Amino acid sequence: MNAPTAEQPLLDISGLRIDLTGKRTVLHDVSYAVRPGESLGLVGESGSGKSMSLKAVLRVLPTGARTTGDVTFDGRSVTAMNPRELRAFRSGQVAMIPQDPRAAANPVRTVGDFLTEVLVRTRGVPRAQAADRVVGHLADVGIPDGEQRLRQHPHQLSGGLLQRVMIAAALAAGPRLLLADEPTTALDVTTQQEVMAILDEQRRRHQLAMVLVTHDLDLAAAVTDRIAVMYAGTIVELAPSKGLHRTAQHPYTAGLLRSRPAIGTRSRPVSLPGRPVSAFEAGPGCVFADRCAFTEERCRTERPRLEAHGSHLVACHRVAELAAAGTLLETTS
Ligand SMILES: Nc1ncnc2c1ncn2[C@@H]1O[C@H](COP(=O)(O)OP(=O)(O)OP(=O)(O)O)[C@@H](O)[C@H]1O
Ligand SMILES: [Mg+2]
Repeated sequence: MNAPTAEQPLLDISGLRIDLTGKRTVLHDVSYAVRPGESLGLVGESGSGKSMSLKAVLRVLPTGARTTGDVTFDGRSVTAMNPRELRAFRSGQVAMIPQDPRAAANPVRTVGDFLTEVLVRTRGVPRAQAADRVVGHLADVGIPDGEQRLRQHPHQLSGGLLQRVMIAAALAAGPRLLLADEPTTALDVTTQQEVMAILDEQRRRHQLAMVLVTHDLDLAAAVTDRIAVMYAGTIVELAPSKGLHRTAQHPYTAGLLRSRPAIGTRSRPVSLPGRPVSAFEAGPGCVFADRCAFTEERCRTERPRLEAHGSHLVACHRVAELAAAGTLLETTS
């Protein structure tokens, strides 16, 4: 297969719907594409389906899950891959950065064994050469004393160091797509920033595509090209990250922006009223209708489609009038 051009997506998710056992729909009609080297943020409240959409890419959904729609990688259907193709895809094309590095690391193996194994298994590097290469991979993620670290076990490393090791392992496999599901939430705030900066720098240097799941809109805006805002198992707005706090068009995106804490820049955060709903709890209309300040009759009966409004895709019946009135954007920056 030819290498994808800049226009061709590397990852293409189209019309994805996931039903878990007991007719629990957790994702419906989710579509997004990520081009080679592009970074996409997935944001939204708990239960909105962010992790599910990543699990669908790796085909690691809960037992009994039924999937419709398609996931393609570099033009090939992931859904249609046989077990051998799926193994090759998971080990060589896509890498997952875990949320909690301590839970993901094997406590009885040294850092050196773990990283060496990745190189031997995914890249076919001879074991004798792998050790030298591993030290280089650790230096790339800001661990200069790699020789010494190789002999250590996960419990001897801080959470931030261990997450750097996980990033080194992900990069060592030579993937083209990184999937990072809240990769810094298990770390303290200053370490979060350091680890995110390293992940961002390495991603750019190796020109990798990335899907970053995070609750932090400001973080997503800083390190991604576009942001998809999810609510109740669907995307309600997909927009360029740059300037999103000034350009949000969906009432939910605006609500998320107003609810985030920020020091010194604006008035107190305003929490969104009500609680988030799961996809299977949403009525026939707009998934956000119960919590939206602009709901009218049509919003309760007819599901809005994700449609282009300028450079954004927005699923809201009232998007044009809200934009014209400028109502959404008064307090988000
Ligand atoms: N293993 C599972 N079995 C049954 N339901 C599940 C399972 N995992 C997730 N769900 C449900 O699927 C829906 C989407 O969950 P998902 O984990 O994708 O949310 P999320 O957006 O990643 O949330 P969070 O921010 O809390 O990680 C939720 O309603 C959740 O309760
Ligand atoms: Mg999640």
